[in-house]
Amino acid sequence: MKAKILMVCLGNICRSPLAEGILKSKLNPSHYNVASCGTSSYHINSKPDQRSIDIARQHGIDITDQRAAQFKVSDFTTYDHIYTMDSSNYENIIDLASNDHEKNKVKHILNELHPNSNLDVPDPYYGGEQGFEDVFQMLNKACDNIALKLKESD
Ligand code: 4NP
Repeated sequence: MKAKILMVCLGNICRSPLAEGILKSKLNPSHYNVASCGTSSYHINSKPDQRSIDIARQHGIDITDQRAAQFKVSDFTTYDHIYTMDSSNYENIIDLASNDHEKNKVKHILNELHPNSNLDVPDPYYGGEQGFEDVFQMLNKACDNIALKLKESD
C-alpha cells in the first residue's frame, strides 16, 4: 500500500504546491502518493502562482501540472498524513475532523523541523520574490525530515 501525504495551505497556489513538489522530488513515486489542497475555494483549478512555479524550477522541480483543489472531509480517509502550512490552516482542518484518529493525522509541517513549536510557513502571496525563496528553503528542510521518517517507517 502506498503511503499518502497531503499538503494543505489556504489557496493551494503558493505554499502547498511547493511542499507537494518538494516532497515528491525526495520520494519514489511507486511507494508514495503526495498531493496538496487549500482550505479555501478561492483558486480551484488554478495553476500554482507563477512565483512558486519559478522558484521550484530554479531548484529543478516542475510543478506546472498541479491544479488547485479544496480540502474535503473524505481526505481524512484518503490520506495517512496531512501537513498544514500555518496555524489557521491547522485549526480549519482540525475543525472538520470527526474523531481523534482523523485529528492525529494533521500536523504543522514546520514541527518536522522545530518540534512542538507550531511555527507558520509565512504566506508569501502578498510579498516579493524573496518570500518564495524563504518558503522554499524551509519547506525543503522540513520535507527532508518527512522523507526520512516515511522511509524509516516503510
Ligand atoms: P497559499 O497563498 O495559501 O500559500 O496558496 C495564498 C494564495 C491566495 C490567497 C491567499 C493565500 N488569496 O487570498 O487569494
